[in-house]
Amino acid sequence: MIIRAVCSLLVVLATSAGCSGAQSGGNPLVRGMESPSEIVLEGCTLAQKKCTRCHTMDQLLATEVGTPEAWRMYVHRMRLMPGAGIREAEEPKIVQCLVYRSFGSEGLATLKKEAK
Ligand code: HEC
Repeated sequence: MIIRAVCSLLVVLATSAGCSGAQSGGNPLVRGMESPSEIVLEGCTLAQKKCTRCHTMDQLLATEVGTPEAWRMYVHRMRLMPGAGIREAEEPKIVQCLVYRSFGSEGLATLKKEAK
């Protein structure tokens, strides 16, 4: 009872992983994000699934890029890797996750200004 209550409180406060949150349960990409949008969550789920075919999650978490545009270019290049299994429509969602994670909503705003 009490544990359940604490968990739902955490989910509300921090979209916390670890309390089996519906979408983000256990996804380290989402950990610590402030109120991520549905698309960001979706993108992070995709990134967790697809990018870890070839990279470890630790590598992904440790990657730092200089600009939101750099994430877009990486994800595009990765999608074209043989065997990546990333669909075209999934690309912008993954980019949103990674950009939001690195640059917050300001980063997302610069993405929207440039062509999607
Ligand atoms: C099919 C295997 C594969 C998948 C799937 C894949 N990658 Fe890669 N990735 C590679 C290979 C191989 C390299 C090294 C060659 C290169 O940089 O082109 C690389 C390099 C990178 C680099 C550059 C690392 C560096 O230090 O230069 C980043 C960042 C990266 N991947 C991120 C991602 C992300 C994010 C995803 C998911 C959208 C992803 N990768 C999916 C194979 C993959």
